[in-house]
Amino acid sequence: MLSTQGSKVMVRRASLEDAPVCGRICYDAFFTISERHGFPCDLPGPEVATALMSMKFADPDFYCVVAETEGGIVGSNCLDERAVISGVGPITIDPGAQNLGVGRKLMHAVIDRSRERGAAGVRLVQAAFHNRSLSLYAGLGFDIREPLACMQGRIRNGDTSGCSVRSARRDDLGACNAVSQQVHSFDRGIELAQCIEQGTARVVERGGRITGYASALAFFGHTTAETNADLQALLACVEAFGGPGILVPTRNSALFRWCLANGLRVVQPMTLMTKGLYNDPSGAWLPSVTF
Ligand SMILES: CC(C)(COP(=O)(O)OP(=O)(O)OC[C@H]1O[C@@H](n2cnc3c(N)ncnc32)[C@H](O)[C@@H]1OP(=O)(O)O)[C@@H](O)C(=O)NCCC(=O)NCCS
Repeated sequence: MLSTQGSKVMVRRASLEDAPVCGRICYDAFFTISERHGFPCDLPGPEVATALMSMKFADPDFYCVVAETEGGIVGSNCLDERAVISGVGPITIDPGAQNLGVGRKLMHAVIDRSRERGAAGVRLVQAAFHNRSLSLYAGLGFDIREPLACMQGRIRNGDTSGCSVRSARRDDLGACNAVSQQVHSFDRGIELAQCIEQGTARVVERGGRITGYASALAFFGHTTAETNADLQALLACVEAFGGPGILVPTRNSALFRWCLANGLRVVQPMTLMTKGLYNDPSGAWLPSVTF
């Protein structure tokens, strides 16, 4: 059993060498809380968590921090800085050192960083069943914006006539960013460009123009479209969604019912929380697990 009591907790920038320890902590923290509530773990194993940490710790567009005591690393947090809105997560504390103020310190570190960098706002997605994270984030000034349903499965008979979906190309970036500006009033062009290079991004066309895109149809991807019909066409083009599933804003009742009617199943409830700039989106959208 780890403890931070009687031991000073230091927060410092993460380095690539910290990834194996932080990956193990990340997996243990998510596995423990999910199992306690009877939900599947967001990550399949510690090696995937370590790969995720390695990727973020090595990327200059991410600000990643670890919390350390004399006994070693007890937790980490990451801030995605690829847009005017920063995205938090994953934040995880060793199960033996939770509820002792370490998470609060790691949240302050990324909130301070976000402010220093002049970000317009900071956002995150929280597991709705987790009382502690909900309370911690709300206490730090994050507002609850959207209830989400993480959903998995394959769309059965969705009528997507009038829309066609294809892989995104580099020269689609401008049109996709314009859709994002229209719906969210900011774009996620750096992230989208990376997803286009990685081959996960798709666009939907209707009436001869791009009306929506998905950076990836996955837990770690976001989707933005002019209408539900555009977004539904994107959802219908894959066999399954990457990771635990896509995040459907359940206040978009028509979309949520369409997903249910077409065979998707709810995996777990989650919540989008924001601090700073937030405009109610005007269009159809799915956040990633970051925001
Ligand atoms: C969520 C997590 C990062 C928080 O870190 P932590 O070090 O355990 O949390 P802290 O001790 O810093 O803060 C917890 C706060 O919640 C409060 N809290 C805990 N349970 C609460 C409850 N049921 N109701 C109200 N407040 C509660 C504590 O009093 C504390 O508030 P305070 O700072 O005002 O005293 C950590 O518990 C964790 O890793 N959990 C598992 C993985 C996870 O869910 N990560 C977040 C993904 S969104």
